[in-house]
Formats: sequence, structure tokens, C-alpha cells
Amino acid sequence: KGKLGFLVVALLLVLVAAGCGQDSSDGQTGSGEGNGSGEATQKLVVGTDAAYAPFEYVEPSGDIAGFDIDILSAIAEEENLELDFQNTAWEGIFLALQNGERDVLISAVTITEERQQDMDFTDSYFEATQLIAVPADSDIESFADLEGKKVGVQTGTTGDIAVSGLLGATSNDINRYESTPVALMEMVNQGIDAVVADNVVILEYIKNNPDANFKSIHDDSFDVENYGIVVKKGNTELLDTLNSGLAKIKENGKYDEIYSKYFGEEPGEE
Ligand code: ARG
Repeated sequence: KGKLGFLVVALLLVLVAAGCGQDSSDGQTGSGEGNGSGEATQKLVVGTDAAYAPFEYVEPSGDIAGFDIDILSAIAEEENLELDFQNTAWEGIFLALQNGERDVLISAVTITEERQQDMDFTDSYFEATQLIAVPADSDIESFADLEGKKVGVQTGTTGDIAVSGLLGATSNDINRYESTPVALMEMVNQGIDAVVADNVVILEYIKNNPDANFKSIHDDSFDVENYGIVVKKGNTELLDTLNSGLAKIKENGKYDEIYSKYFGEEPGEE
């Protein structure tokens, strides 16, 4: 009888342990086939906020896909790295890197001096800028016109930083959302006058949601931004590997191939 009790307890412990390992169930493994030497070197847990088409999004099948996913997968193939993509909320994404829950972030993350204090970025793999989305009948014509208006942003993004600069970080007129699509979706419902976010993501949303009837406004006062892949500060070995892979795919045409798959033209051609 005592033995049976022990077995039940042991079985329960095994089940609990298995359950603990399960919180990564939305994970997705892509392996770099590399040079075919068959030696998977490193399995990297990759954080991405997959609500950011076309850079990262969840397909109907549940798979995470997008430009960023293809770029990092191509790098992994060159460098024989194994990847495990994990959908990671933007608001906790940098913390997840700090505390080791993620080894790498690729999430259309803009390289900024402030972020460089806390983490390391690869070379730029994409150039972006902010763009303003407004209802098609809006009279807003420029960034400066946002003064006195209600503006939606994704919390802690460079869009948030830009709007905070204009309206003041504590302004009641800034409405912060957990994701950029939610901000855009809520623009009409919540009486917001404009949303400021990365240009390509706004254009993609407008293209995919013609019924929303939004238009976009470009403003020269927005900085040029560069996206980098992120690793923990001081992880120079991984940083060098990623930079080496990035250089290779830029060199061998793989980058251009992925770029035209998503954007229909080669980088640099307008
Ligand atoms: N590029 C902007 C930034 O770094 C926004 C990135 C948001 N990315 C995402 N996957 N939600 O702040």
C-alpha cells in the first residue's frame, strides 16, 4: 500500500514537471540546416511580438511568420544555429532577454542609444521611420498637428517616444496600447484622432483593412530608424555570429530574396 502511494506521488511529480515545460507550447522550432555537418550547435530561444505584420505575425495555422522570421532563419542556416521562436508580448520583451528567458529578440526593434545601454544590437537589417495613421476625413496634416489631439501608440515603442516628445510623456492625450494593431483598431472606437507607429506596419494595416478607411501621413521630422537583432548585453559571441550570418545573407542574395518576397522590390530601389 505504501509503495503504491509512493508511485502515485512520483507519477504526479513527473506530470507536474512535464507541465512546467509546457509553457512554451506556442513555440516553433526552425533549424538551420547549415552545411549539413549534422551538428546542431546551439538552440536559441527567440522572442518576437508577433502582432506586427509584415515583420512578425501568427498565421492561421498558428505558426509565427514574417520578414523578421525569414531573416533570422536564413542567418541561422548560415551559422548552423537552431531557433525556437516564442511569441512574446512587447511590454515584457526586453525583460525576458535580461532574465535569460530569451536568448535573442527579433521584433522590428529600433536601435536607439538608450536601449544600447541595456542590450546589444546587431548591424541594421532594415530601415524604417514613423508614420501617422488618421481617418481618411481627418484634417491632421503633420506631426505638429497632433498637438491637442488624442494619439494612440504601442507602449514603449519609438512611436510612443516620438509622441511623448511632442505632447509630454504624461499627457492624458496619449493612449497607450499593448499592440499596434489594437491601437489602430481602437482609433475609431475610442475617439482617438491618430496613431503613430512604424511606417511599414501602418501601410500594411491600411492595405489589409480597407474598410477602416484610414490614410497615412508622412512627416520629415521623424528620424530614420534602423532595426537590429538584439542579444543580452555582453553576449559578444552570439552577436558576432549573428552579424556574420547577416553579412553573409546580404552578400549571397538571400536577404534580397526575402526582401522582395515581402516588399516586392530590392532594397534601395524606390
Ligand atoms: N520599431 C519600434 C520600436 O522599436 C516598434 C517595434 C514594435 N515591434 C513589435 N513587434 N511590436 O520601438
